[in-house]
Amino acid sequence: MPKPRTFQIKSYGCQMNVYDGERMAELLEAEGLAAAGATGEADLVVLNTCHIRERAAEKVYSEIGRLRREDGSRPMIAVAGCVAQAEGAEIPRRAPSVDIVVGPQAYHRLPQLVGEAAEGRPALDTDMPLLSKFGALPKRRRQGPSGFLTVQEGCDKFCTYCVVPYTRGAEVSRPWAAVMDEARALVDAGAKEITLLGQNVNAWEGEDEKGVAQGLDGLIRALDRLPGLARIRYTTSHPNDMRDGLIRAHAEVETLMPFLHLPVQSGSDRVLKAMNRSHSAESYLRVIARVRAARPDIAISGDFIVGFPGETEAEFEDTLKIIAAVNYAQAYSFKYSARPGTPAAAMEGQVSPQVQDERLQRLQALLNTQQHAFNRASVGRRTAILLERDGRRPGQRIGKSPWLQSVHVETEAPIGSLVEVDLVDGGPNSLRGVLVAAMERAA
Ligand code: SAH
Ligand code: SF4
Ligand code: F3S
Repeated sequence: MPKPRTFQIKSYGCQMNVYDGERMAELLEAEGLAAAGATGEADLVVLNTCHIRERAAEKVYSEIGRLRREDGSRPMIAVAGCVAQAEGAEIPRRAPSVDIVVGPQAYHRLPQLVGEAAEGRPALDTDMPLLSKFGALPKRRRQGPSGFLTVQEGCDKFCTYCVVPYTRGAEVSRPWAAVMDEARALVDAGAKEITLLGQNVNAWEGEDEKGVAQGLDGLIRALDRLPGLARIRYTTSHPNDMRDGLIRAHAEVETLMPFLHLPVQSGSDRVLKAMNRSHSAESYLRVIARVRAARPDIAISGDFIVGFPGETEAEFEDTLKIIAAVNYAQAYSFKYSARPGTPAAAMEGQVSPQVQDERLQRLQALLNTQQHAFNRASVGRRTAILLERDGRRPGQRIGKSPWLQSVHVETEAPIGSLVEVDLVDGGPNSLRGVLVAAMERAA
């Protein structure tokens, strides 16, 4: 197979995969490859996969099948991401047209692997050296108004349903200087907003340039001083790592947006224990209360799993109760999916798909009502919107409010501007804003 000149990367799963996909693109471009246009046929297709639920993992195999071209030829195919890490050499056995398998901690070696594949050699790397990929990646260059920055990766929590500790490895924090350098490069490349990423991002720890121990709040306060950066977000947090300093930052740091994604998974203490979440429904509610005391307008988001093994109707109703108690601005909810090698997959009392479906529908109906109510309650607010993309109609742009709502605005202001709007209309999934005046944050 000839050496590829163009590439396409398809990322599935979480925001960290989006980040990894961007880094792989920058890496391939630094090697002289060009991104194929949206419709163009790429010489190399990278499937950056997710292993979190069965459906997500199966997607990769159907996608591989679709890559065959009409004339019977196919591009060079690389499987990256968490399926690559979990299944490794099993992938080319099951799908022989896969040329490259590369895990989430090894993708800095993608150019070498492409070279090996071009020579017809098997190209597989699922090593997990701590942090070494970051140092081997080129400087950030591609950037829209809102950028992701991985500051912490991996997980030591081992929730009994979850594959992430196996696919991403042990919990590590990137050093302060590396994070600050990358943030500066993102801002230089045009980012107005940075979302700090980690599987347990609020567990980030390190030392600042003076050698003083810092947590995520210290990092956020340093980023707040970065000229040109208007907004800071972070995700995903674990309830047990929500420390006082970070909560205080929500009261004190103006660029830290009033939004917190804090998964609880279940409202039943019996289920939480079986999940090995190491928090209770009540301790979660206490965290939420502290955060709200610091920042009363904060939008709360969460993740939920329905139909965990052994979950009874009453335990499911405890989840509805905690949702009612918190009042979420938005949320993600999933049917429990048994993952190979995880403790929960071997537990008794697996819940039938019918019951899972029925519970998911009830749960989502409640969450949708809450989201719509939150959007309606925002009507009347005057706030800043960061314009991120064009809307469907000419002269319309779509941006984000501080509370991470999508807002449609009629304006000629360029993408990447912060504009001040009055929120006038709140639908289930988005709002409408009317321009007050274009404003730029004094940097
Ligand atoms: N580190 C984060 C998120 C990890 S994965 C956290 O702890 O919150 C994102 C979400 O996927 C999880 O919060 C959980 O709700 C869901 N999830 C993970 N494993 C799952 C499984 N086996 N079945 C269904 N949902 C799952
Ligand atoms: Fe998975 Fe739990 Fe770790 Fe989140 S905290 S990544 S759900 S093991
Ligand atoms: Fe999926 Fe891996 Fe993210 S399993 S959710 S891509 S960490």
